Amino acid sequence: MLRAFCLFGLILVTDVVSGQSLRQASPWAAGVGLADRIPDNPADWSLLTTQFSHVTPENCMKPAALRPSAEVWRFEQADRFVDFASAKDLKVVGHCLVWAKDDRTPAWFYMDGAVPAKKEVLLARMKAYIDTVVGRYKGKISTWDVVNEALDDGKAELRESGWMRAAGEDFIALAFEYAHAADPSAQLIYNDYNNELDGKREKMLGLLARLKARNAPVHAVGLQGHYEIDRVPYEQLEKTLLALRAIGVKAVVSELDIDVIPRGRWWADGNKHRAEMAKINPYADGCPPDVLARQAEQYARLFRLFRQYPDVIARVSFWNLHDGQSWLNKFPWPRVNHPLLFDRQGKPKPAYEAVMRELGAAKAR
Ligand code: GLA
Repeated sequence: MLRAFCLFGLILVTDVVSGQSLRQASPWAAGVGLADRIPDNPADWSLLTTQFSHVTPENCMKPAALRPSAEVWRFEQADRFVDFASAKDLKVVGHCLVWAKDDRTPAWFYMDGAVPAKKEVLLARMKAYIDTVVGRYKGKISTWDVVNEALDDGKAELRESGWMRAAGEDFIALAFEYAHAADPSAQLIYNDYNNELDGKREKMLGLLARLKARNAPVHAVGLQGHYEIDRVPYEQLEKTLLALRAIGVKAVVSELDIDVIPRGRWWADGNKHRAEMAKINPYADGCPPDVLARQAEQYARLFRLFRQYPDVIARVSFWNLHDGQSWLNKFPWPRVNHPLLFDRQGKPKPAYEAVMRELGAAKAR
């Protein structure tokens, strides 16, 4: 049974029967991706610190935020985020050092004047970037998403990008080596989406094998876990967890949510459904109880699966604190979305109760 206590105007949610919150009930670290402005939003703090132990800054530590051009470093927001987290006794997941996508890498990285930078130049820039960022937060950030989204969604093994064009696959191993040299005690993660699915899983396992063969310090794999209702890939996820267990690599579920307004068609058939889809906003006045119940069942099944793999899963992080802050209210088109465990007031949804039941069951056994 859940109860929300209102204390000094702040909502505290715990499970009344077990007296536990998500972070207390989880056999792994309980994390959440946070809007960069969290230090200015005291109304969110009690929900955050009651339920979660690990925080990932949503945007302020990405290369485009920290290093928009060759002349500029912008640390103010990231510093505030890290100071806030340490004041609240929350651990920070640094995200992300190299985002292997052209539209997510500041253009100056790739260029030398008017021509593309050569391999040595690009890698020296990457090293300087990693040294500076990891060095600055050494002792304050113990986990880094080192490379984000390098696997290709189509036929190629690795995504085409300025990194690949100039340096080939070497940039991935080197990013891990540089991060390890900058902070030898940090846990280093390779993070991607759909990497639990057949095909992309094999590409990920191949990449991990090649990284291992050259002794690159990769400690865990991030499975982003941006799922859609009625399409959670349980079986494929389980195959992936088994495969990671077999090779002794830990998994973190790094950006979990279950979208209640499926979005897959947005990218289908040469993008031809976009105009029609951009009008879809079915739950603007609230999410119907039957949809919330379906979402709760699907979260429960997911956590039932996770709990079979406590030796593999090191952390489960949700992507954003509550429904009102989810990136899925804007991406890939504006709509009122409800993908998380807490509603817009920060109150627990049926999905929270379902997850807590699963975690409670895990404790009872
Ligand atoms: C990816 C990235 C995250 C974030 C989400 C959308 O999953 O890893 O940093 O940008 O997309 O919020």
